Amino acid sequence: MKTVITFGTFDLFHIGHLRILERAAKYGDKLIVGISTDKLNFSKKGFNPVFPQEDRRDIIASLSFVDKTFFEESLEMKGEYIKEHKADILVMGSDWAGKFDEYKSICEVVYLPRTTGISTTQVKQKVIEMEKFHFSEL
Ligand code: CTP
Repeated sequence: MKTVITFGTFDLFHIGHLRILERAAKYGDKLIVGISTDKLNFSKKGFNPVFPQEDRRDIIASLSFVDKTFFEESLEMKGEYIKEHKADILVMGSDWAGKFDEYKSICEVVYLPRTTGISTTQVKQKVIEMEKFHFSEL
């Protein structure tokens, strides 16, 4: 029985999020997802996600292949979360390649390639561009 753990903000849930979670689930028998809190995102990026943490958590928790979710309050606590949830494998997107190698002493660490052509940032930019186009047409 292998437990996989992964982390992310998963704001404006999109196909890249779905794909990485699907692939992460296949690495074990149980998938646990740490959802970055609004506070953690604000401290990292200087702005809040569009969707509040409870909504982001509920969307992820509704996926059939996600067994458990929790809030990730701090980036530095990854090791504690891995131990607390008895995770055997940490899966992260390739944007984090090499950044979590320190956890190789407590679990297997796997970096998966990102889905190309989409990110939350790109979705936000696209909506802004569409709005600009829409209003320029009026
Ligand atoms: N992810 C992915 N493919 C994408 C976008 C995200 O595999 N096209 C993965 C990330 O590598 C990460 C997880 O999804 O493991 C959560 O990523 P997150 O940072 O929440 O999403 P992004 O779309 O990358 O958000 P942002 O644009 O704000 O960085």
